[in-house]
Amino acid sequence: MKSIHAIVAVASDGAIGRQGDLLCHLPADMKHFKEVTMGHSIVMGRKTFESFPRRPLPGRQNIVITRDALWQYPGVTVAHSLDEAVAAAETETVFIIGGAQIYEQSLPLVDVLHLTRIHARWATADVFFPALDMDEWQEVEREHHGSDHRNAYEFDFITLKRRAK
Ligand SMILES: NC(=O)c1ccc[n+]([C@@H]2O[C@H](COP(=O)([O-])OP(=O)(O)OC[C@H]3O[C@@H](n4cnc5c(N)ncnc54)[C@H](OP(=O)(O)O)[C@@H]3O)[C@@H](O)[C@H]2O)c1
Repeated sequence: MKSIHAIVAVASDGAIGRQGDLLCHLPADMKHFKEVTMGHSIVMGRKTFESFPRRPLPGRQNIVITRDALWQYPGVTVAHSLDEAVAAAETETVFIIGGAQIYEQSLPLVDVLHLTRIHARWATADVFFPALDMDEWQEVEREHHGSDHRNAYEFDFITLKRRAK
């Protein structure tokens, strides 16, 4: 059975993006994202895919979900539903990488959540991560990082596992 992980960078108020882009550029989080997802299948909404400056992301099977029957892109696996996307994944661990619509739909299926909690908020944010019921999740790791000359905000890398029912 496939193990479904989600990875997301979330502001203090649950925001994840603004105007079709990320909230901020945090090189340490980009590096973390690359390390965690490398070699695995990654599933994303069409809007998130099209927000990447360079695409598809190398070293990972890029699976893009769209309702557009004609949409395609070189090097990308296209899916027309979340179930189709998970079924098309070639790796045992599948990473849901956003955006808001896809996190919302996939959260009930997620076993492990890799959360980067950014200690800041943006008034212009327009997309949000769904609210988490912490009765359903157990924090298994947390690593705090202060801000530095390359990373303007403090953040925590947090790993949550879904509690057994
Ligand atoms: N902070 C983070 O970690 C993070 C991560 C990823 C993204 N983001 C941000 O999130 C924002 C994008 O999120 P979003 O919610 O606007 O878009 P999205 O989830 O990336 O993509 C939405 C698109 O996915 C397709 N889709 C959604 N549900 C579907 C379904 N059930 N069946 C078939 N296709 C489906 C549709 O594509 P079609 O319109 O082609 O049919 C829809 O327009 C951006 O601001 C991005 O930067 C943040």
